[in-house]
Amino acid sequence: MIWHGHACFEIKAGYSVVIDPFIKGNPMAKILPEELEPDFILVTHAHYDHLGDTIEIAKRTGCKVIVIHELANFLKSKNILAEGMNIGGRIKIDDISVVMTDANHSSSIADSELKLYGGRAAGFVLEINGCSIYHAGDTGLFGDMQLIGDFYKPDVALLPIGGRYTMDPEDAARAVSLVRPKIAIPMHYNTFNMITQNPLDFKHRVMELCDTEVLIMEVEDILEL
Ligand code: NI
Ligand code: MN
Repeated sequence: MIWHGHACFEIKAGYSVVIDPFIKGNPMAKILPEELEPDFILVTHAHYDHLGDTIEIAKRTGCKVIVIHELANFLKSKNILAEGMNIGGRIKIDDISVVMTDANHSSSIADSELKLYGGRAAGFVLEINGCSIYHAGDTGLFGDMQLIGDFYKPDVALLPIGGRYTMDPEDAARAVSLVRPKIAIPMHYNTFNMITQNPLDFKHRVMELCDTEVLIMEVEDILEL
């Protein structure tokens, strides 16, 4: 699994899966959208820093885009191969399983001057290659994260720590104590001034609460799953 900065992760395990491909406008990104060749893109919600370069990449590669129903309809109107689903639902493709989870956040599609309703914001539990990965999307802390931990037992949790629009390090550490993954990886921080955080603050807070290992990734770092 590679971190491309912000909320964008690329998982290569037979298939290539990219989550929230925000590359072009992402000051942290060290690759170009053209370098991504996914089989599937998962988008947590329609905000530009998550939908990102999805349309461009999907048009070039013909990959499938797995998103919430309303965003799927929008993408289909742009001739993208979109697979709609909704919160609590599961899509199975060969040995990959994608469950759409809740996220406490908003979602809107910026299309010309209009902002279209983008459906709910979501997270994902992706099971691939025997590994369970929880990508929380943009979210505040919520108690049902404990259910995600109980029922999906994620090996890895990818959690926003930037604050202001999502959890900050303090609440993200509380989220770790609810989800109890083996490894927690902070994301969605230091991309913009408004979400400046020290990931070590997150790590230290997690250490006080539970025995999950916190992995602070640099952009383009690889975690072997
Ligand atoms: Ni957002
Ligand atoms: Mn965001």
